[in-house]
Amino acid sequence: MRILVVGGGGREHALIWKLAQSPRSEAIYCAPGNAGIASLAECVPIAANDIQALKAFARERKIDLTVVGPEEPLTLGIVDEFEAAGLRIFGPGRDGARMEGSKAFAKDIMQKAGVPTAAFRQFTDYAEARAFVTAASRPLVIKADGLAAGKGVFVCRTAEQALEALERVMAHHEFGEAGARVVIEDCLTGEEASFICLTDGITVMPLPSSQDHKAVFDNDEGPNTGGMGAYSPAPVVTPQLHARVMQTVMQPVVDTLRESGIRFKGILYAGLMIEGGVPSVLEFNVRMGDPETQPILFRLKSDLVDLIEAVIDERLHEVSIDVDPQPAVCVVMAAGGYPGTYEKGLAIEGLDRAAGLAGTMVFHAGTRRQGPAVVTNGGRVLGVTARGTSIAAAIDTAYRAVSSISWPGAHYRSDIGGKALKR
Ligand code: AMP
Ligand code: GLY
Repeated sequence: MRILVVGGGGREHALIWKLAQSPRSEAIYCAPGNAGIASLAECVPIAANDIQALKAFARERKIDLTVVGPEEPLTLGIVDEFEAAGLRIFGPGRDGARMEGSKAFAKDIMQKAGVPTAAFRQFTDYAEARAFVTAASRPLVIKADGLAAGKGVFVCRTAEQALEALERVMAHHEFGEAGARVVIEDCLTGEEASFICLTDGITVMPLPSSQDHKAVFDNDEGPNTGGMGAYSPAPVVTPQLHARVMQTVMQPVVDTLRESGIRFKGILYAGLMIEGGVPSVLEFNVRMGDPETQPILFRLKSDLVDLIEAVIDERLHEVSIDVDPQPAVCVVMAAGGYPGTYEKGLAIEGLDRAAGLAGTMVFHAGTRRQGPAVVTNGGRVLGVTARGTSIAAAIDTAYRAVSSISWPGAHYRSDIGGKALKR
């Protein structure tokens, strides 16, 4: 089978690493890929959101299966376009992708499905939003309705902070059309977890639980990033909580979507806030998490091609999923300055040394080849992933690999997995 993976981050490197292990995969292409992906797949210089060029490539190279990593092409309707052209592709259509592409739409589905989530209001009028925030006098979360590359959410302790966030989104239009509508919701407290499932629109099959680390510095300090590290499983997701999330969140949402005329096929990812053993949904994503994919796929023993095909062919109820009980940890190494401004093009040392450590894999994110060297090419650069007989052992191995890699200004958190150790 000839496979095309769309995207070029750590998540896509992990997807390709896993797909390449399938006896059914003959050739893998990646658009646009990165330096790490290039050792497993042929990278083609097509942007992940250039749907027409991707479609032309898939036709010309007789691609049998396309797997989409990031959300943007999904919200732009890549699945509808490919299917109309008779091409096989994994992911929800444009209508289902609104679960991530519009926070107001996701809230509406959650309300219909009776899913526990923060109380909210939505506004398109700046003056009305300001009046609401001024009168509320409690911590609020301001969210641009549309896609904002993970930057459109502001957790505001005070009315001043909330007014400033509204100004950025609704007056200065920092996120363009994505901020034409805002969702303002109550601020929840607790511990976050990522609950990521495969679904064919009827059956829901959970992948292993995981936890991301969004803040850039240790102890969850500093601004939010795309994710500075992850581990799987997340002990906060106890067996009871797991059952509760399946019953009160995942299955009702998939059923409600279907009853609304949307057969959702692909990945459905609930970002949870858990307090006192009770889950609430912060958001939905319609793709795998990055960096959660790295430890999750590191633990997955089943053939990923088989699982994806069962989703596309609507027979997910026929397959089961096999997971390595050993925990896995991914530590993200980022460019100094990220998530603010940072330098690119710095030579990365020590990749071979890290690759020699048993039970580890260095997934590339923002990297590119420059002559014989691999150089930095983004904010998140590497996802150093390791397994262990315990979470402590996995953490230890991951950091051993991290300490053998360097470039000027490289930054990583030193407490990835710490919350799991505390439990
Ligand atoms: P989202 O993109 O909606 O997941 O938001 C990004 C991050 O903002 C989440 O991972 C949380 O850390 C935080 N967040 C979002 N909504 C809330 C909320 N209602 N209460 C507290 N924190 C939130
Ligand atoms: N790691 C968070 C996300 O992928 O949305």
